[in-house]
Amino acid sequence: MAPEARHRTTPSIRRPDSVVALRRALDAAGYTFAAVREALGADETLMVLPHQVPLANRRLGDGPLGTLIRLFVVDGTVTTEQAARALAPLSLQEAIGMGVVTLGRSRVHGAVRILPTNGASFVFASDLDATDPSDLPADFVMGVTESSRLLACLTVRRPVERALDLGTGCGYQAVFAAQHARQVVATDVNPRAVAFARFNAMLNGADNIEVRSGDGFGAVQEGEAFDLIVCNPPFVISPDRAFTYRDSGLHADDVSHNLVRQVPRFLRPSGLAHLLVSWIHPHSSDADDEWSGPLRGWVAEAAEPCDAWFFRKGSYDPLAYAIMWNQRLALANQMPRYVAAVDRWTRYFEHLGVGALAWGAVWLRRRDVERPRVRCDELPEASLSADAANELVRLLETDDLLEGLSDAELLACGVSVRGDQRLEQVMRWSGGAFRTVDASLIRDTGLASRAEVDPPLAAVLAGVDGSRTVGQVLEHAARALGGDPAAVSAQALPAIRQLVSHGFLELGGVG
Ligand SMILES: C[S@@+](CC[C@H](N)C(=O)[O-])C[C@H]1O[C@@H](n2cnc3c(N)ncnc32)[C@H](O)[C@@H]1O
Repeated sequence: MAPEARHRTTPSIRRPDSVVALRRALDAAGYTFAAVREALGADETLMVLPHQVPLANRRLGDGPLGTLIRLFVVDGTVTTEQAARALAPLSLQEAIGMGVVTLGRSRVHGAVRILPTNGASFVFASDLDATDPSDLPADFVMGVTESSRLLACLTVRRPVERALDLGTGCGYQAVFAAQHARQVVATDVNPRAVAFARFNAMLNGADNIEVRSGDGFGAVQEGEAFDLIVCNPPFVISPDRAFTYRDSGLHADDVSHNLVRQVPRFLRPSGLAHLLVSWIHPHSSDADDEWSGPLRGWVAEAAEPCDAWFFRKGSYDPLAYAIMWNQRLALANQMPRYVAAVDRWTRYFEHLGVGALAWGAVWLRRRDVERPRVRCDELPEASLSADAANELVRLLETDDLLEGLSDAELLACGVSVRGDQRLEQVMRWSGGAFRTVDASLIRDTGLASRAEVDPPLAAVLAGVDGSRTVGQVLEHAARALGGDPAAVSAQALPAIRQLVSHGFLELGGVG
């Protein structure tokens, strides 16, 4: 007998009691990230590829947790009795009416994916994946992906009045924001995403989220402003218009460009925006040193001044970028479609005259000053920790402090070394002794920063013992180097500012 076809549904919040009952069923079964991961033996994405389904099915027991995972994670089917037992206190009829399961000839199918989050007690419903990614409909509502998690880690979680999640999808960023914003506005152009976001807000008890339907800032009223704006847009630079969640349909990197240019208008003074973006390097060599050039240009076009902080995840040559964003086709063994997509994308990039393509994030802070600051950092290859934004706020506040400190004031500050770093030296045998040819300070936490240390700076660092002011450290270094204190100071102060700015050194009282 042919397998029963799955039906795509959109979850409904017409009966709020039913949504609450579904949440109770999930909680009663222990449907947490740790339990689901353990039951599946999956990695942290909780992704189960088609070839892993039989093994996953064998691992899952027949209890409520196993049944719910079959329905909502591995696209399996269960008997009506199993479904009724696992979904209680929600009745099977209510679950069908709500659109989270469908009834086939004899068995119950999951109609949405529902995944718990790592590190928080939220669950998010999204569309089921298709076995063949090219069969996904254009209005597919994606679940929580690497980009969703990156944006959430980069978002500052401090109490605010109003937050905006632009392009909310299943509502992931909005539900997190609802924990620390009094009111959240979440918008999406895709009506099915709007329905999923409303459903997930209710499933997670977030009653301070208003979900609106609309295109870009069209869903925001004139004069509305926010303390926090988060946006994970369809930032991928692509010639396709296959999926609303991925392809903006706009030319080249215009979706990111427009966003960076427009967002400041909707920020309250001191308000923060966190955006994911992709941008084009006109020349492949720009990917080395000049990577932030286009982003600087976009921020400069904004009518309202903002401090900007650019984070690069990576820059790629056109072929690597095309491969990266189409690899789902390769993973699903759709090789002819994969090859055609990579060819189409690379032709598009040739037509645009692209040297390389980058993606990453932008922080904007509305600040009415004449010369706002710009800062650039690389994101580490590994995932950021959930509290990464706290560390970034500390660095931002350090930059605020440094901006207000004259050199004379800086010289009077106490200075110490932060504990979470190491100094790596490469020494080479030369002229009868080992001599340092390369030295770097390295921090593995947060942005995993690295700073080159030349011999004069090494002499400065040798004097930082937590008991001296910056001025005393520089005098100590001038004696050790046998140099003029004023010259050493003039040379070393910018480097000290850099080390403080990147969290290698801390300013404070003298110990
Ligand atoms: C990459 S998904 C991000 C979803 C979710 N915010 C997250 O972080 O996981 C992009 C979302 O933007 C929505 N979107 C695309 N174009 C839009 C537009 N012009 N206006 C509003 N939303 C849009 C898509 O429907 C999709 O839900």
